[in-house]
Amino acid sequence: MSFIVGLRNFTLWLLFRAARPFIFLMEPENAHYAFKRVGVFLGSNPITRGFSSLMWDYNHKSLNIEVDGIEYRNPVGLSAGFDKDGELTKIYPSMGFGLAELGSFTGEVCPGNPGRRLFRMVKSRAIVVWYGLNNQGSEKIASRLAKVDFGRLRVGINAAKSNVTPEFELQESIRDYLKTMTLFKDVGDYFTINISCPNTQDGEPFVDEHNLDALLSAVTQHIRPITDKPIYVKLAADISIAEIDIIVDGCVKHNMDGFVLTNLAKPSHNTEHLPEEYPTVKGLLPAGKGAMSGLPLQRISTDVIRHVYRRTRGTKTLIGVGGVFTAKDAYEKITSGASLLHMITTMIFDGPQNLSEINRGLVQLMKKDGFTSLEQAVGSRNPLPIIAEAESPVLTNVKKEAA
Ligand SMILES: Cc1cc2nc3c(=O)[nH]c(=O)nc-3n(C[C@H](O)[C@H](O)[C@H](O)COP(=O)(O)O)c2cc1C
Repeated sequence: MSFIVGLRNFTLWLLFRAARPFIFLMEPENAHYAFKRVGVFLGSNPITRGFSSLMWDYNHKSLNIEVDGIEYRNPVGLSAGFDKDGELTKIYPSMGFGLAELGSFTGEVCPGNPGRRLFRMVKSRAIVVWYGLNNQGSEKIASRLAKVDFGRLRVGINAAKSNVTPEFELQESIRDYLKTMTLFKDVGDYFTINISCPNTQDGEPFVDEHNLDALLSAVTQHIRPITDKPIYVKLAADISIAEIDIIVDGCVKHNMDGFVLTNLAKPSHNTEHLPEEYPTVKGLLPAGKGAMSGLPLQRISTDVIRHVYRRTRGTKTLIGVGGVFTAKDAYEKITSGASLLHMITTMIFDGPQNLSEINRGLVQLMKKDGFTSLEQAVGSRNPLPIIAEAESPVLTNVKKEAA
């Protein structure tokens, strides 16, 4: 069976590679909308969904994983930002996704940033994003999604702060997150609080320890009592280890359930791309704008996963994201400590069949290591150091939490 799926995926890959030069002639944002329209159509009725499953799906019981009480049929997820208005949930299971993170959704309707907002860096295998959180706003989207049955797809709701003003106002911003999370309290399976969008007018104010503390206190007070959903926090790729530790410790203090690691990489902090390909160099984007997905992020996000897994001593859920193109990349993030994965860029560069190819490869890699379930693989190549409790504020917090 696995051999037949492999043959199918290889054939689809050949077709995709033949079509890719023509697809890449399209303006990236137009291509994004065109593929979304195709996805909406394919998800619209049982016949096209069945056909899509034959083309793309793959199931294997060793890929099933339970995370924070939620059962996922496989760990391969769509990352936030592809489906900004939550319109494609019907097609994702047929494409082989176990989960999809929708959004980012914001309290207010957001038009996003003006001008060209999406660019391909083909040699660097990256997408430059300057969208700025464009979405229809949480009221409209939540009322539509409340009527949708997600079936076997597990759904994450990514909440961000409305990108509508250059001035940061703490209480107003906290209200914005709370509005989205309240509206989505009964929609989807988990929340991600996105504090790391690199493309907003007022920067990333919740990377600041005190602002984050105020936000998470408000979430604890207003959101925890109204929903049992796990709450994760999405971190930036471009912050120092010291900053990561402050955020992680703050999240542990407030009993957050885990982390999504990581968001896009800014070119100024990144040596893993070809600078001449970046759109600001060609005058297509103003200096200092945008950030990269894909390969430039791959090693960095895995390093952050390794660090946070150790810092939290494996007690928190980690969702690994950034430059997953192959089963080997996916397995590296899992064995570093991630229980689930998100991805976007590989669909754009390698085609949608790559999702089932990654799942298929994961089964083989687990088998090679003698694992019968994904749980056994999580963190298996990132052994936790033995450290004294006094040296680990996180460990002390985790113990308090468990008591
Ligand atoms: C077109 C695009 C839009 C994105 N928009 C968002 C977003 O709205 N919210 C968010 O948390 N991350 C967003 N991201 C970041 C992704 O969720 C992910 O962290 C990043 O792309 C790395 O994964 P990848 O290398 O598999 O693409 C976006 C990424 C892309 C490519």
